[in-house]
Amino acid sequence: MKNTWRFDDTELEFIKEVLASDFISSTSGNMNQRFEQAFAAKVGAEFAVTFNSGTSTMHACLAAAGVGPGDEVIVPALTVISTASVVLHQNAVPIFADVDPETFNIDPEDVRRKITERTKAIIPVSLYGLPADFDPLMEMAAEHDLVVIEDDAQAHLARYRGRTVGTIGHMASFSFENSKHMTTGDGGIVTTNRREYAVAVRKFASLGYAALQAGDGRVRKIAKDELQDPDYIRHDSFGWNYRMPEVAAAVGMGQLAKLDRYVATRIEIARMYRRVIQDSGCSYLVPQKTPDDCVNTYYTFGVRFEGEARGIAWRDFRKKYVEFGGDGIYAAWQVVYLEDVMRNYRFYGKGCPHRCPLYQGPPVQYKPGLCPTAEELQGKLMQFVNNYRDAREAQPKVEALARTIEYFGG
Ligand SMILES: Cc1ncc(COP(=O)(O)O)c(C=O)c1O
Repeated sequence: MKNTWRFDDTELEFIKEVLASDFISSTSGNMNQRFEQAFAAKVGAEFAVTFNSGTSTMHACLAAAGVGPGDEVIVPALTVISTASVVLHQNAVPIFADVDPETFNIDPEDVRRKITERTKAIIPVSLYGLPADFDPLMEMAAEHDLVVIEDDAQAHLARYRGRTVGTIGHMASFSFENSKHMTTGDGGIVTTNRREYAVAVRKFASLGYAALQAGDGRVRKIAKDELQDPDYIRHDSFGWNYRMPEVAAAVGMGQLAKLDRYVATRIEIARMYRRVIQDSGCSYLVPQKTPDDCVNTYYTFGVRFEGEARGIAWRDFRKKYVEFGGDGIYAAWQVVYLEDVMRNYRFYGKGCPHRCPLYQGPPVQYKPGLCPTAEELQGKLMQFVNNYRDAREAQPKVEALARTIEYFGG
């Protein structure tokens, strides 16, 4: 059975606690709160708020940042659709910035070029486990009064210039979807050092209950006489229901206890892949560049495939790798603005197929040519699977890579 290594008695014990407490929800139980406090302590943030995904997290962060109709939010061209779709969910306009061909992360210089008076936020993504280049982005944010929301869905415990991701931007978002370093099945969490953001994202995630606090998602803590009174006013803000169930938080507690090991394993397996490339002298597989002052926690081992220039087709390389026993190599997502939903403006409702009705800027067109580096890179990227139980389980996959390189020549 696949992935059984992920769960053991550690999770079960926490789950039993939740069930023994009568299977209550996150608005009254305390497993979410325990998980939030433990996660915040792990990354070194003041507050953490649990969510049902690493998409709803970012939606809430945008709302907390005050992003609304007609605002612009800068996101990288190379990311999952979520990073852009949450902007649309706030009736704001995603503006795409190009990426660096070596690190594959958002290019701060292109971000600078794309800032306008309508820009309200930036969502840098720490792609494949490598922290985005946050310092220049934070400087721009201070200069232009922008909010920086880290999308660290793939970068648990990654480090940037001595700081753990999740503590650098104004808010940060992590995913616990099942391929991530740690998982709650589906789930996510926001970290922040600012109380007002913690309150705002929590209310957004939990129907805008007035009783919610930065560090406490329980709404039934007030006196029963007040809570049960017909005159009781419950909601003081607008929100969705994006809460994490208590059972999922229990799984998260178990996973968090093992996170260091999971992260170390991914780093070790990435090292094994990289060694094979180096030892074979292969020049057409160019691993994602990790700057010296960063720790990449390798959600996946990302490589730029330059084999086409040597007459080796991307698909042929992948096919041979699978034949030799490797797991399928994933291509990168399509550049976001070239996805059907974006190119054909399938949002904002029927009355406005092309842009947000409240948008004051020049028409935004999602079409080829916006971010040339991302467009060129996208077709070259290869993602090698990295979430194995341990180095032993990964060894045959690493050997398959060695054989594939040998087959095509280094
Ligand atoms: C970079 C990035 N951001 C956000 C997400 C969204 O996370 P979730 O699947 O938990 O909604 C993902 C998930 O794959 C991701 O890779």
